[in-house]
Amino acid sequence: MRNLANTLAYVEYVTATSKLDALPDFAKEYCYEIDGWVMPKLNPKRFLDDLKNYEVRSDDTYLITWPKSGTTWMQNILTLIFANGDMDAVREKHLFDRVPFLEMPQGLDYKKAENDNGLYEIARDMPSPRILKTQLPPPFLPSQLEEKKPKIVYVARNPKDAAVSHFHFCNVSPALPQYRDWNDFFIDFCNDSIPRGSWFENVFYWWNKRNEPNVLFITYEEMKKDLRASVVRVCEFLGKDLSEEIIDVVTENSTFAAMKKDPKSNPDSLPIFKEAVKQKRSFLRKGEVGDWKNHFTVAQNEIFDDLYREKTEGTDVNFTFQL
Ligand code: A3P
Repeated sequence: MRNLANTLAYVEYVTATSKLDALPDFAKEYCYEIDGWVMPKLNPKRFLDDLKNYEVRSDDTYLITWPKSGTTWMQNILTLIFANGDMDAVREKHLFDRVPFLEMPQGLDYKKAENDNGLYEIARDMPSPRILKTQLPPPFLPSQLEEKKPKIVYVARNPKDAAVSHFHFCNVSPALPQYRDWNDFFIDFCNDSIPRGSWFENVFYWWNKRNEPNVLFITYEEMKKDLRASVVRVCEFLGKDLSEEIIDVVTENSTFAAMKKDPKSNPDSLPIFKEAVKQKRSFLRKGEVGDWKNHFTVAQNEIFDDLYREKTEGTDVNFTFQL
């Protein structure tokens, strides 16, 4: 059953059974299933319960994404905007320490996460205005987001590139299943059973909220096409009136090349990615639109296009797959 020709039949089969059971054995060790979602053990159920009831402040800015959609990129942009482009001030801390990733354990060790504290606990004591990051699927988000209506920046990336980036990241992060075979990953991606689950459900949820005044829905492809215009769009959304010069500083320091060169914005400089770096794998891998073409076979592309068509039918969801 677990082969490419049967992918769509397999998707239906998995939907009717347990997503976790359908994962290959090497992946099961890193994941658990909750309410139909596959989550990494790195984000244990206790954290999810705490975060559902998490206190949201109306002056918070939440950065929300499905994984590998440009979170780190937007995180950089937001922190530079909040610092008015003062690069010395932002470089006092590594990018990952500037914005807490709420559902992560402080030790970042998936084996010890159950008994660790979450980064959301550190965020509780941060002064306002806070920038907070989460990749929680919609059902697990803090319920106060609805009533407190903080600013929410949601970054989405076309699913083919997001999947390819996720596949590679599984071989960068020690906390994720080590998928060696793209085909294996592709099948689990189509089944919504990779860690943090369905791209479709996550993106559609936020697409449907894109016109709410406290939500900015922006795409990786849009940022790639015109970074400066995207920075301006984010500033306008946040109500930050930055000078043209400062917008230039934010833009120049947020290109792929600039972030890669700066150890304070490149995640590769963090101890957790040390092993990956030794193996010449990088968090800031390619930073392109359309790399999926180097991974999807013709057959996989047809299968995915069918799935995409089926899921987006009757909606106005519209993604760019190449620039
Ligand atoms: P690739 O693996 O395709 O290179 P996230 O931060 O959500 O985990 O997303 C990581 C993806 O965003 C990686 O994609 C990474 O290279 C890309 N990325 C990070 N910073 C970027 C930038 N400044 N410009 C373009 N892509 C960037």
